[in-house]
Amino acid sequence: MRNTPQDGHEHNKQNDRFPRIVKFNSADIGNDDTGVPPLDGQSMSLAPRRGPIETVVFTFAMPQEAQRWVHALNLTPYESPRNPGMNEQYKSKIGAVNVVVSINQFNLKHGVAGVGTNNSVLNAFCAINEFKPSLLVNAGTAGGFGDSGGVIGDIYLTKGAVMYHDRHIKLGNYEEYGNGGHSCLSLRRLPKILSAKTGVFSTGNSLNYKSSDMRRIIDSDALVKDMEAAAFAEIAEQFNVPFIGIKSISDLVDGNKPTPDQFQDNFGLATRNLHGALTKFVRFLANGRRLEDL
Ligand code: ADE
Repeated sequence: MRNTPQDGHEHNKQNDRFPRIVKFNSADIGNDDTGVPPLDGQSMSLAPRRGPIETVVFTFAMPQEAQRWVHALNLTPYESPRNPGMNEQYKSKIGAVNVVVSINQFNLKHGVAGVGTNNSVLNAFCAINEFKPSLLVNAGTAGGFGDSGGVIGDIYLTKGAVMYHDRHIKLGNYEEYGNGGHSCLSLRRLPKILSAKTGVFSTGNSLNYKSSDMRRIIDSDALVKDMEAAAFAEIAEQFNVPFIGIKSISDLVDGNKPTPDQFQDNFGLATRNLHGALTKFVRFLANGRRLEDL
């Protein structure tokens, strides 16, 4: 059982924050009054669960999470004619599968990688629009939970639904919208093939967290905390593209040391393990696979 930390940041000030909106009846502002019950993350998806895997886009937030793997696979740099100068991209055909790597837009103003949901949405949209992939994968590093069995360097694959923990909208159906609950492909064989654990991923735009975020992480039983997966899953779901998240644990959210220190100390190990798992994944796909083989 995880403790809920108290940091004093969380105040439920909905009425102060949305003084105009709360005057409306919730039915007037987009509540679904069809009587159809809300769907869970898995059943909501129209994404195919069957069919040949022809093109897979592997997305990353940070170039440092992808670089060595891109070189090891000998992928060719690709400049998109549709979106020139955006999202560092590479591609090659490996056996039966077209492999595309698409890395979030680098932030030139601050000289940092485009981590977080904004650049992930852009990357997802551009990559889906251009490559029409059979499968979208979001790969990278993430926080894990020691008291739920997480260990630095573990590989996790998405299971169930992909959540947001920092979108708090207590207003009718917007609450569920805020929570995300985006679908991911059900995986039967892949966890074993990659020696990976599985679990719910929860996404927010901060490396640290507020107590309100942690309550949501606990409620969703998430085992992985990251800054991108739900954004990629949300756009994939909208475009009916099957989605998988794969993350290597670089820090323990409930660990003793500050998260940024853990992240820097363990980044090398986490990315090495990630690249090992991704290589196994591509070797498997290279033989010509179908979604239902995963
Ligand atoms: N990426 C790596 N570690 C993370 C953490 N603890 N939270 C969010 N994103 C992360």
